[in-house]
Amino acid sequence: MWKSLGKRSRQRWSLWQFHRRDVRGSYDRSWRFALLDRVLLVVGCFQSPYALCRRFFALQGSGHLGVYGETPLRVVQKLASIAAIDSGDVWVDLGSGRGRSCFWMAHFTGCSSLGIEQVPSLIRQGQWVARLFKVPNVRFEETNWRCSSLSTATCLYFYATLASDEELADLSRKICQECSLGVRIITISTPLPILPYCWEFPLTFPWGTTLGYLHIFTEHIRQATGEDKENF
Ligand SMILES: C[S@@+](CC[C@H](N)C(=O)[O-])C[C@H]1O[C@@H](n2cnc3c(N)ncnc32)[C@H](O)[C@@H]1O
Repeated sequence: MWKSLGKRSRQRWSLWQFHRRDVRGSYDRSWRFALLDRVLLVVGCFQSPYALCRRFFALQGSGHLGVYGETPLRVVQKLASIAAIDSGDVWVDLGSGRGRSCFWMAHFTGCSSLGIEQVPSLIRQGQWVARLFKVPNVRFEETNWRCSSLSTATCLYFYATLASDEELADLSRKICQECSLGVRIITISTPLPILPYCWEFPLTFPWGTTLGYLHIFTEHIRQATGEDKENF
C-alpha cells in the first residue's frame, strides 16, 4: 500500500511540476483559461492521466507502451502560429489525452476543436471540464482515430514521438482518402511517410528538444499518391 501511495504521489508531483513550468506565459492573461487549466490539473492529480493511460493499454494487452505525455502549452501556442489557426479552423488532435491542446486552441484562436481519444477516463475528464466551463467549441470523441472520420478537419495534430511506422502509414492513407485539400497536418518528432512536409521546426518538450513537421495536403500530393498505388 505504501509503495502504491508513493507512486501516486510521484505521479501527482510530476504532473504538478509539468503544469507549473508550462503555464508561464501560456495563459495570456486569460483568467478563464487559467482557471480551466487549474481544474484540469486538480482532476489530473486525483486521476493521473499517466496511470489511466498505462492501465488502459495494459488491460487491452496491446503491445503499445501506454506512455502518456502532453504537449506543453507553449508548444501549442507555437503550433497555432505556424499553422495559422484561426476561428474558421477545425483543430483535430489524434490521441488528445485530457484535451489540453483542444482547450487552448478553442479558447485562444476561436477555432472548433475535436479531441479523439481511446482512453474513456481521459475523455471523461475533458468532457467534464468542457461542460463545467460551458466551452461550446470543444468536443471529444471516444474512439480509436483509425475509426473516426477526419473529413471535417482543417488541421490535424499527431504527437507521433512513439508512433509505429504502421500507425504513420495508416494515418497518411487515411488523410489521402478522407481529408479535403489544403488540410494542414502537424506531427511531432517524425514526419508522415509518403506525404512530403513543407516545414520542419524545433520544439521543446519536458523530455528534450525535438522537431515538428508541417504538411499540407495539396492537389499535387493527392495526384501523386493516387498514381503511386503500389506503395500506398
Ligand atoms: C502522447 S499522448 C498525447 C496527448 C495530447 N495529444 C497532447 O499532445 O497533449 C497520446 C495519447 O494518444 C492516445 N492514443 C494512442 N493511440 C490512439 C489511437 N489509435 N486512437 C485514439 N487515441 C490514441 C493515448 O491514449 C494518449 O492519451
